[in-house]
Amino acid sequence: MDHTLHLTRRMRRNRRSAAVRALTRETRLDKENLIAPLFVHDATGDPSPVGSMPGVFRRNPQQLVEHCKALHASGICAVALFPCFDAALKDAEGTHFRASDNLLLRALAQLKQACPELCLIADVALDPYTSHGHDGLLTADGCDVENDRTVAVLCEMALLQADAGADIVAPSDMMDGRVGAIRNALDAAGHTSTSIMAYAAKFNSAFYGPFRDAVGSRTAAGYLDKSTYQLSPGNAREALLETRLDEEEGADILMVKPAGAYLDIIRDLRESTLLPVAAYQVSGEYAQIHAAAQRGWIDYARAREESLVCIRRAGADMILTYFAEEMAAVLP
Ligand code: PBG
Repeated sequence: MDHTLHLTRRMRRNRRSAAVRALTRETRLDKENLIAPLFVHDATGDPSPVGSMPGVFRRNPQQLVEHCKALHASGICAVALFPCFDAALKDAEGTHFRASDNLLLRALAQLKQACPELCLIADVALDPYTSHGHDGLLTADGCDVENDRTVAVLCEMALLQADAGADIVAPSDMMDGRVGAIRNALDAAGHTSTSIMAYAAKFNSAFYGPFRDAVGSRTAAGYLDKSTYQLSPGNAREALLETRLDEEEGADILMVKPAGAYLDIIRDLRESTLLPVAAYQVSGEYAQIHAAAQRGWIDYARAREESLVCIRRAGADMILTYFAEEMAAVLP
């Protein structure tokens, strides 16, 4: 009996061989689109591993310089720095960000000098500096983050980072009006070439857990509720409105964060703006893949690549990912 189907279109013809699959591939990963988030601390001794993020380390500025030289040589063009301060340096107002020789400012200056072509991205938010772990200054009753006073402080922080050598400042705090205020402050100080990558649609996500371990912003209270400033995970229209405001206020790059569970937001944003779109594959997304792979439940290398290809397919021009270093080693 002849089972032959008489089909005009057999989709499998375009999948028959590796060669045809390569010809028809729609989305490619390029290491030039990957940004490596890096943690910096002030300890001596070997880089210290972040328990919930296998393969991720906190390095001191000197180690960071060596690491960044190697990353740059392997094809990574940009890094995003996150400082981890000793608890003793933190207070309720995060005042240590102003110390002219603080860890982050030193790291930026040393990196800019050692590796001038590497694009340096500095996070603008108070959480690494505050004892309570919030991204801004608390209201008098301590129950919320005060918007406008926080924005004034963030402007100061962005200026210090630009002075120290940051090419891009990235406000990750989700205060209203901070992009416009930072743009004005930078311009007034002559930093007209410093870019702003806005964490434009940043959701109140459980996937930031391992990051908070890494920078020590997870407090004794355990769960840190940022729901009065970060977006609610179910809100797509509100997210688009946030990105539109950041664009109007002068952001150069708009970011969606997290990435994997928010691919629809990345796509919506791609279709609604002409600006470059960034996506942040956050610590919990990274940890999830590692944890499942460690148990032998998924194939590590394939899951790693698939997670990134799909973020690109959704519309991200660039991806902040803790896999950047490894991907640079495997991508052509
Ligand atoms: C805070 C900040 C966070 C991340 C980057 N900047 C965490 C938070 O909002 O609590 C998370 C990154 C990650 O999880 O990888 N300003």
